[in-house]
Amino acid sequence: MEKLVSLCKRRGFIFQSSEIYGGINACWDYGPLGVNLKNNVKRLWWEEMTQRRDDVEGIDAAILMHPTVWKASGHVDSFTDPMVDCKTCKQRFRADEIKKEGQCPSCGNKTLSDIRQFNLMFKTFMGPVEEDAAVVYLRPETCQGIYVNFENVRTTSRQKIPFGIAQIGKSFRNEISPGNFIFRSREFEQMEMQYFVHPSEADKWFEYWKEKRMAWYLEFGIRKEKLRFRDHASDELAHYARRAVDIEYEFPFGWKELEGIHNRGDYDLSRHKEFSGKDLSYFDDATKERFIPYIIETSGGIDRALLAFLSDAYDEEFKDKKLDRVVMHFHPKLAPIKLAVLPLVNRDGMDTKAQELEHSLRKHFPTFYDDGGTIGRRYRRQDEAGTPFGATVDSQTLQDDTVTLRDRDSMEQIRVPMKDLAEAVDKKMEGWERRVPGVKGSRVPGE
Ligand code: GAP
Repeated sequence: MEKLVSLCKRRGFIFQSSEIYGGINACWDYGPLGVNLKNNVKRLWWEEMTQRRDDVEGIDAAILMHPTVWKASGHVDSFTDPMVDCKTCKQRFRADEIKKEGQCPSCGNKTLSDIRQFNLMFKTFMGPVEEDAAVVYLRPETCQGIYVNFENVRTTSRQKIPFGIAQIGKSFRNEISPGNFIFRSREFEQMEMQYFVHPSEADKWFEYWKEKRMAWYLEFGIRKEKLRFRDHASDELAHYARRAVDIEYEFPFGWKELEGIHNRGDYDLSRHKEFSGKDLSYFDDATKERFIPYIIETSGGIDRALLAFLSDAYDEEFKDKKLDRVVMHFHPKLAPIKLAVLPLVNRDGMDTKAQELEHSLRKHFPTFYDDGGTIGRRYRRQDEAGTPFGATVDSQTLQDDTVTLRDRDSMEQIRVPMKDLAEAVDKKMEGWERRVPGVKGSRVPGE
């Protein structure tokens, strides 16, 4: 984990928020490579969940919502963690975590306050007067913006049940114990999809989305053995859930939740119907039946997905027992930069030719030009950035307009005419497969 955090900072993936002021706890900034990686995660999710389907619509709702939303959702009453204070060091802990570990982690003292319920929603005031009537919350989940727009989306898109609404956006939780880098933070992004179904079909769609979501992580290169499902026991179900399963990933700090698939029953629409006084039931023209749809939810954290993609991609390769290179084996569709263009040396016009080539390829995919340092150093930098392909302009290029095309994972090089380079890269991107241990260019088992 330490190595990964250090690589993220060194290469410009992730920085601590407000670092020059000593940082602020549990908030993170995405740097030049990080923002591209994050945008790619969001785009690939959006494409899969909306663009390639007829039955899911997208929305982008406001972060600030009417405060009654959070009463209806149950968050004002139930979105709490049990908290205890250490009477000696004055630190606060989650009571369930302290209990699990059997001790008070910082000072070793065991005199703790009684358990208090601590609401995790951030509060602020709308308008110039700081009074109770002006309290609004920063949303702790994006899905409420979907529920309150159920009728708007259904009528404008003319969707019939079953159909879904998807949204990507920021959420905020005043976590008592954030940590593990971007795994649990106080400001994070979610990618959520709510699928509205007839109650009798809820189980079927639950199974369907569970498999779909697992397949998405696998498609973008996460190793199968690092993913698993974990069913929630009845006593750990959230207040809205009838059934819940987590997709878990084996992070460097253990198996943890990556995404949740929930059968929320008719809880959400019934509650919003009750609190808003608006009829949120659905009338089926074919069967003449009126009912409150059940909701199957897929709820993933983008930062968490990113941490899984980062952890899974991280690899150290050894030569003669010495570290040869650190390489990020991102799926090319996730990689922040697709192609690095490098002149072998900065003379004889190789640098100008490489620059021209790099400029001409920008319209196809994100590229990067680098002429600083030896060619070996430059390749290593790109390996750490996870750039899947590198094109090198050498003396032969000046004669026949071909370049070498290097594959990040196998480090194999082929010669390609410059005019065919974009197509060759596209083809390689489509055909990419995650290499398995024991194959040249992959992680060294046991290292
Ligand atoms: N709408 C349901 C819901 O929000 P959740 O299990 O509380 O369910 C869903 O959160 C996902 O959001 C989690 O699986 C996780 O990926 C992400 N998430 C939740 N809290 C987070 C936090 N503090 N930091 C980063 N990601 C978080």
